Amino acid sequence: MSEPTQDNISALEEMRDEALKGGGIKRVEAQHRKGKLTARERIDLILDEGSFEEFDMLKKGRGGAPGKEKSYPGDGVVAGHGMIDGREVFIFSQDFTVIGGSLGEAHSQKISKVMDHAVRVGSPIIGLNDSGGARIQEGVDALAAYGEIFHRNVNASGVVPQISCIMGPCAGGAVYSPAMTDFTFMVENSSYMFVTGPNVVRTVIHQDISSGELGGAQVHTEKSGVAHFSFPNDILCLREVRKLINYLPSNNRQKAPFLDLSDPVDRTDPALDYLVPENPNMSYDMNILIRSLLDGAEFLEIQSNFAKNIICGFGRLGGQTIGLVANQPAVLAGVIDSNASGKAARFVRFCDAFNIPLICLVDVPGFMPGPEQEHGGIIRHGAKLLYAFVEATVPRITVIVRKAYGGAYLVMNSKHIHCDINYAWPSAEIAVLGARGASEVIYRKEIKKSQDPEAILNKRMDQYRETYINPFLAAKRGYIDDVIFPRDTRYRLIRTLQFLENKEVTNPDRKHGNIPL
Ligand code: HXC
Repeated sequence: MSEPTQDNISALEEMRDEALKGGGIKRVEAQHRKGKLTARERIDLILDEGSFEEFDMLKKGRGGAPGKEKSYPGDGVVAGHGMIDGREVFIFSQDFTVIGGSLGEAHSQKISKVMDHAVRVGSPIIGLNDSGGARIQEGVDALAAYGEIFHRNVNASGVVPQISCIMGPCAGGAVYSPAMTDFTFMVENSSYMFVTGPNVVRTVIHQDISSGELGGAQVHTEKSGVAHFSFPNDILCLREVRKLINYLPSNNRQKAPFLDLSDPVDRTDPALDYLVPENPNMSYDMNILIRSLLDGAEFLEIQSNFAKNIICGFGRLGGQTIGLVANQPAVLAGVIDSNASGKAARFVRFCDAFNIPLICLVDVPGFMPGPEQEHGGIIRHGAKLLYAFVEATVPRITVIVRKAYGGAYLVMNSKHIHCDINYAWPSAEIAVLGARGASEVIYRKEIKKSQDPEAILNKRMDQYRETYINPFLAAKRGYIDDVIFPRDTRYRLIRTLQFLENKEVTNPDRKHGNIPL
């Protein structure tokens, strides 16, 4: 075997040095002035120390127009694999200091390579995006390069978790790769996502708007629902990605890692017996219940600023990761609207794809009424959530805390759409309609004829409440498996998860269903 020559070693060192420098000191300083870290600094922060193994450090691309090819260090992206808390992840980090992190052929091949490896070995893919989009000088090759990534995003979906961090501009078709990944993180004031930027908006619709107003972190975490998380800076953003990864299995063949937080399984919380106010029109914060139930009161909420009337997120029960979907009575009384449906449906589908049991906490007065929601397609959007729960084969447990009315009762993982176990608190109100609405319909003639319609209505409402609005009718039919004391909910959920651990369900053989998108 021949030894490497000194010339070869020097050439290698020179090429490595060039790649490590990225776009050079001035561009690195400019990046730092914008409050952004470099591609390599980000990788160092997100991965376990010293665990990064790089692929294609020396790869070069065409870079420029035909006949004017020019190569750039690493072609504007750093790619490879490393560990997060001892578990393998694949990662690419776009280098804005090299030709604006723009995506050309070689750049895309580097990303595609890590995505292919990730799917083959079954490890999550993390993309740190900071790019001016398709590399203009490479023309159609740059568009083709994006297509290769989109193709892989779709094929990896439901096989390995895919996480996107938007840490700079993300424009044009480039936003569609993150949009097809499972979770999108943004950094406030330094990242934005849009299909067409402010210049195009000005030209086409004559409107002046800044990048932040058009597609900043606030817009996408509060209004559009495109992004799931936002953080004030790169460091906090990357730290949170590590946290998320810890809740997830590495692929769809595994279960999420077990983590014992030393929280007793049989811990009771007597304060929960007083959580639900006596007055059915009074709200309370569902987060109190969520934190009380979960191990160590730790909860990672997804899209916490979007469609706040429904809460979705990850926690642990008895050490096992669970996906939690809960109505939030403190926001819009917990009604389900189009945004809430879409948000929860996508979350349910993620959990189902990755073997994460679902816990559903119900306090829902119904679907949001009115022309705005109807014309916006609440039928179509609400059906997404219904479809997602029905389709899910992971363990599915529901606790009806208070209101469970009409269609919304059915949609929220009810027994009738085959949840495994449905518990109710004694405060549960399961009925077709609330007392007022129902009484106004069924006693309409009597109320109309009466000298004192309000008194009759109140009397009939009381009767209706006594007869219909309780959990016992449903329990008599077997629709509720048990009426449980609020204080015992944690223990009952954990025991139920334990017996459902090896649940197996086979759905009919088909290519795929047709979820109402
Ligand atoms: C080639 C690019 C580039 C691009 C930026 N650069 N974007 N080079 N192709 N797409 C280069 C710049 O020329 C500059 O090089 C360096 O990167 C830094 O860019 P600046 O403009 O100086 O930085 P900044 O002021 O921070 O502005 C960043 C930016 C802006 C907002 C991203 O550069 C920009 O608008 N770029 C174009 C965005 C775009 O329209 N992309 C195509 C989208 S269409 P020098 O040498 O001067 O430092 C698309 C199609 C995808 O992506 C299709 C998929 C289906």
